[in-house]
Amino acid sequence: MFDLAAVRLLPELPDHAPIIGAITDEAFGPGRFVRAAERVREMAPHDQALSFVAEHDGAIIGSVRLTPIAVGRAPSLMLGPLAVRPDYKNRGVGKALMRIAAEAARAAGERSIILVGDPPYYAPLGYSPLPRGSVIMPGPVDLSRLLGLPLAEGALAELVGRVGPRRD
Ligand SMILES: CC(C)(COP(=O)(O)OP(=O)(O)OC[C@H]1O[C@@H](n2cnc3c(N)ncnc32)[C@H](O)[C@@H]1OP(=O)(O)O)[C@@H](O)C(=O)NCCC(=O)NCCS
Repeated sequence: MFDLAAVRLLPELPDHAPIIGAITDEAFGPGRFVRAAERVREMAPHDQALSFVAEHDGAIIGSVRLTPIAVGRAPSLMLGPLAVRPDYKNRGVGKALMRIAAEAARAAGERSIILVGDPPYYAPLGYSPLPRGSVIMPGPVDLSRLLGLPLAEGALAELVGRVGPRRD
């Protein structure tokens, strides 16, 4: 019997890379490499200190990554991929990963997180659609799926311009 309390959320380590790759392939299939969000993730490495895996019974069953980016000149984070192995879906693992990643980002002084995803899943976690045309992704994206979470007051209003790597 699965018990969410038995799931450990752990910071990502270099050794996790192969299993995270396998979980992501399983969740998204080969089409994932053409997604605009993937273009962003190719611009800069994700921040392992802000990326997490879910472990159950010694096995990694889900993961989430945050990548430092800039929107115009404003620093932000791009979330993704978020994936949970099929046998463990709908048990709260995805939302637990989302919450710990946001908490870690806030504690690190980050100001916002953006992502491309289904609004009904992310709205209860505080994400809302970004104003249309404000954030320019490096590829086609359904603008109703471009969402943001403020970690500091007024932080979403700063997000105007092209998504690119940070220059700091
Ligand atoms: C999306 C995903 C990460 C969710 O993880 P999870 O551990 O199954 O999610 P949780 O258990 O935290 O949340 C489940 C709830 O979200 C809902 N939900 C799941 N996917 C949803 C979606 N795309 N849109 C709206 N609601 C969704 C479920 O119906 C469930 O609702 P309930 O709590 O009312 O029963 C997982 O299904 C997955 O890996 N999917 C394939 C990859 C993917 O789509 N990643 C997200 C990219 S946008």
